[in-house]
Parts: sequence; C-alpha cells; structure tokens
Amino acid sequence: MTQTPQPSSRQVGRYAYDSVDRTFLKQRVDQFRDQVRRRLAGELSEDEFKPLRLMNGLYLQLHAYMLRVAIPYGILSASQMRTLAHIARKYDRDYGHFTTRQNIQFNWIKLEDTPEILDILADTEMHAIQTSGNCIRNVTSDQFAGAAQDEVLDPRVHAEILRQWSTLHPEFTFLPRKFKIAISGSMQDRVAARFHDIGLLARMGDNGRAVFEVYVGGGLGRTPVIGTLLTSELPEEDLIAYLEAVLRVYNEYGRRDNMYKARIKILVQALGAEGFREKVDAEFAAMDRARYHLPPEIVEAIRARFGAPVFDADAAQAEQALALRLKADPEFAAWVRTNTHPHKQKGYCSLTISCKPAGGIPGDVTSAQMDLLADLADRYSFGELRITHLQNVVLGHVRQDHLFELWQILQLNGLGTPNIGLITDIIACPGLDYCSLANARSIPIAQKLSARFADAGLQREIGSLRLNISGCINACGHHHAGHIGILGVDKRGEEAFQITLGGSSGDLPSIGQIIGSAMSEDETVDAIVRIIDTYLAQRAPGEHFIETCRRLGTAPFKDAAYAVA
Ligand code: HEM
Ligand code: SF4
Repeated sequence: MTQTPQPSSRQVGRYAYDSVDRTFLKQRVDQFRDQVRRRLAGELSEDEFKPLRLMNGLYLQLHAYMLRVAIPYGILSASQMRTLAHIARKYDRDYGHFTTRQNIQFNWIKLEDTPEILDILADTEMHAIQTSGNCIRNVTSDQFAGAAQDEVLDPRVHAEILRQWSTLHPEFTFLPRKFKIAISGSMQDRVAARFHDIGLLARMGDNGRAVFEVYVGGGLGRTPVIGTLLTSELPEEDLIAYLEAVLRVYNEYGRRDNMYKARIKILVQALGAEGFREKVDAEFAAMDRARYHLPPEIVEAIRARFGAPVFDADAAQAEQALALRLKADPEFAAWVRTNTHPHKQKGYCSLTISCKPAGGIPGDVTSAQMDLLADLADRYSFGELRITHLQNVVLGHVRQDHLFELWQILQLNGLGTPNIGLITDIIACPGLDYCSLANARSIPIAQKLSARFADAGLQREIGSLRLNISGCINACGHHHAGHIGILGVDKRGEEAFQITLGGSSGDLPSIGQIIGSAMSEDETVDAIVRIIDTYLAQRAPGEHFIETCRRLGTAPFKDAAYAVA
C-alpha cells in the first residue's frame, strides 16, 4: 500500500507522483538501457531496435537521433525545466525545441547517451513514453488551464486521468496509427480540438456538473479534416467509458493496410458521422460501464494531487500599480496587450513569453534561457511553467505589479518579443534541416518572414494573424490551420513553397486553400508581403486578416501574390 503523496508548494500545477509511478519510470529506463546496450553490441539490428526506441520517443532523423520528451498537458516545474536545460547543455547542442504538441525535442542526441538522459529525466518525474508510435500520445491541453477566467473545469485534472488511462493501455498500444487527444476546460478552443483525433471542450451541464463536447476524426496531414461532433453532452462520469468505446471502434475498424489511410479521420469519413456514432454507441451500450465509471470522488482525488497556488491576499492592488506603468510606458503597454491573458484571480494574469524573437527559430530555446525561465517561474509564478501548442512558454499566475520587472529581465535575454498572436508568432516544423521526409526547409523561410515583419508597430497594425509553415504535406507545422499557411514542396528537384489562405484552428475552424503554384523561398516571402499589403488596403474597420479573407475570398490575395513587379 503506497501512501497518497501530498502535493508540495513546489508542485503547483503538477500531479504528484507516488512510488509506483517512480518505480515504473526507473524500470522502464533499465529496460531501455539493456536494449541500447544490445543495439550498440550489434545484437539487435536497426529494424529490431526501431520499435523499441520509438516506444521511448527516440527517432532517427536526417543527421542524428532526436529524443522527444513528454511534457504532460504542457506543465513543467522550474526544476524540470532546469533538468531540460542540463540535458540540452550536456547532451545536445545547447538548445531544445518546444513542439506544437507541448513536447520538447532534442535534435542532436547520441544513442549511447539516451539511457542516462532518460534516467535523469526519471529523477525529475519525466519520460519519453508514448511520444511516438501508434499509441495514444501526450494529451495536450489549454496553456491557461487553472487560470483562465472562462474555464468551467481545470482540464489538467482530466488530462491526467486520460494519461493514466491511456499509458500502456494493453488494447491501445498498437493502434492502426498514432492517436492524439486535446482537452480544453472551456468552450473557447485554445487547443485546436477539432484538428485532433479526439478533441474535448468542457461546458457546464444543466445539473451544474461539467459535460464535454466530443469531436472525433479531426487532423491535418495529407487529408486535412475538421473533427465531427460525436456528442455534445458527455457527462464527466462517462469520459473514460466513452473514449474507450471510440478507441475500440477505431482499433477494430481502422485500416491497417495503408499507412496513409490509417488515422481515425479516414474511418469516420468512410463510415460517415452517423455510421461511426452508431458503432460507438453500440460499443458503449455493450461495455461493462461500471468498470470505466469515473465518479466525482476519483476526479477529486486526482485534483487533490495537484498543487494549487496560494494567491497573495493583497494582489488586488496590483491592478492600480500596473495601470500607472501602462500609462507611463507605451512600449511596455504594447507587450502587456499582446502577451498577457486575463486570470480568474484579481490582480494576476497569465503571461506568454515569446520563443519567437525577430529572425529566430520558432520554438528553439537555449539552455541559458531555460534556466532563466525556471528562475523566473520560481520568482514570479509559483515555480510552474507551461509550454503552449504555439511553441511559446507561459507563466500561469503572475502578479500584475510584477510584469514591468519581468519585462525588463525578459528583454535583456531575448525573450521580450511583443508578438503573441501576431504575424511573427510563427509555427514551423523542423523541415529539411532535420527531417528525412521534408521537401523543403521550414526554418529559414520562417526566419526571413520573422525578420521582414520584425517592426513591432507594423505587426500591431497588421493585428491578429496565424502564420504556419510545414516542410511537407505531413503538416507537422499545421499549415492548413494557419490564416496564412506555407507548404514546402519539391518542384523539379528544387525546394519550393505553396501558400494557403483562410485556415483557422480556433472556434471557427477552417482549412486553408492553396492559392496557386509553388514559388522559391524569396518569391514566397515577397508574395506574403504583398498579401499583407492587400489586406491592409482592403480590410474593413476592425477586421482581422482571417475575417477579410473570409469576406473577400482568396482572389485578391492570389492576384497580389502572383503580381509581377
Ligand atoms: C511519416 C512521418 C510523419 C508523419 C505522417 C507526420 C505527421 C505529423 C502530423 C500530422 C503532425 C501534427 C498534426 C497532428 O496533430 O496530427 C505531426 C506533428 C509533429 N511532427 Fe510529424 N510526421 C512525421 C514525421 C515527423 C518527423 C520525422 C519529424 C521530425 C523531424 C516530425 C516532427 C513533428 C513535430 C515536431 C510535430 C509536433 C508534434 C509533437 O510534439 O508530437 N514529424 N506530425
Ligand atoms: S511536416 Fe514534413 S517536413 Fe515538417 S517535420 Fe513533418 S514530416 Fe518533416
């Protein structure tokens, strides 16, 4: 019998592991150490080793091994961030890359170091399990979980329940394909729910208890699909049972003969929404529901293992102090406007720290910056950090009168860019710099665009805009979901890029449309500039880029993109 661990003040926002969790991680490291030893000794071929390494997040990329470490629902403690910094410094090239699924990737890992790295991670309750392979991947969640004014429940609790249910689930370890779940604690979709295999949005039910809208079969890649609403009122207590039913239907009927048709989205399309729903309902009705029932006591017990912040009683005054600062310093005020999010606690806010400096590589963070972020989390946000699916870092609970001090420190360290939600807050996949599947490099074009639109005033003038870049049709950079998307293609052996317009992953999801033939990197950058000029010239008062795009269609933008000077 293990004692239920109590969360300490060092564990705000994180689930407290018990000795069973810790022993499991250590056993897993020992198992992998032996597998690596056998591979290095030539006892295992690469083909034999591949499924074993993939179960531990270890990929073989174009130039080196890449290790993808899970950050469950994006939450990290300061000490975990320091561990990541240590790994980047000692075993990689001094940086890590935060991904669109709230993970971190180390790109230059040596195979012989991986057992030691996983051991170090296990010491700080981290791992790389289920970050690859055809299983249920790291469940992603809202970066403002537990802090956002609009949430009806803290989705980290349910994400943790899903993590426990799905980890090493015997039936779902070899699914037809990978499976991604995202959960939001409110109806505001900050998790791209409709582009996941399962997306969950919470709202308050009539009886005062939370219910979930369940979307299924969304995804990007070569067949981009917006998820289908499967049920609009799933009671919390049926969460596990219902997801189990969905996964069983997928596991049984999903295609295993063709990798490109194996995701659940293809099955939902083949059966139709009604046909798929019927199968799930039949499975749900037939299963032993009592076994999967999720009673409020269990939810409460999981919640109790999360550390909660104890807010300062005098923080309400922080608002006046901030108001004075905002008046005195317009540059600071602009940063606060773009990079902060309202908090449910008076006097606090959530702060998004941009990992997208002008001309930088989206999502790359150096070990020194990681250490600094950890120190700042300790000093200003209860020792807790969050990684966003837009590849930035959030301090969840910052007193508003600490913002000015924080801004000054961040600016000195290349982390003060005031661009959250603006054109240079770019998502880019690793592309041809790392990825063996790529047609083109995503990173240099992201850097060029970031430099081209670096002027903070111009970015604010352009306003809210999502620019996403993928190096091939696998769409790891979510280009279809960008208001502007860039897709790397192979044009007669040369790297080239297509532009898509009109995609969105928020509350009104849409898939971007390709506007024309592919261009070179520089031509694409120039075309984007002309597209933006067209928007600025033709927008109605108060209209965001995506709204203008929806109103006018792609024609005027296409004309501008292909106009020859
Ligand atoms: C057959 C090969 C691959 C396919 C079909 C594929 C497809 C995808 C798709 C569709 C996504 C995001 C959208 C979603 O939620 O489904 C994704 C995520 C991602 N992919 Fe790939 N990808 C492949 C290989 C790679 C490789 C080799 C790399 C690295 C070099 C890579 C890097 C990423 C990254 C960084 C993400 C964000 C995901 C995360 O943290 O899990 N992908 N991939
Ligand atoms: S989108 Fe293509 S190029 Fe980019 S990481 Fe994914 S597979 Fe590689």
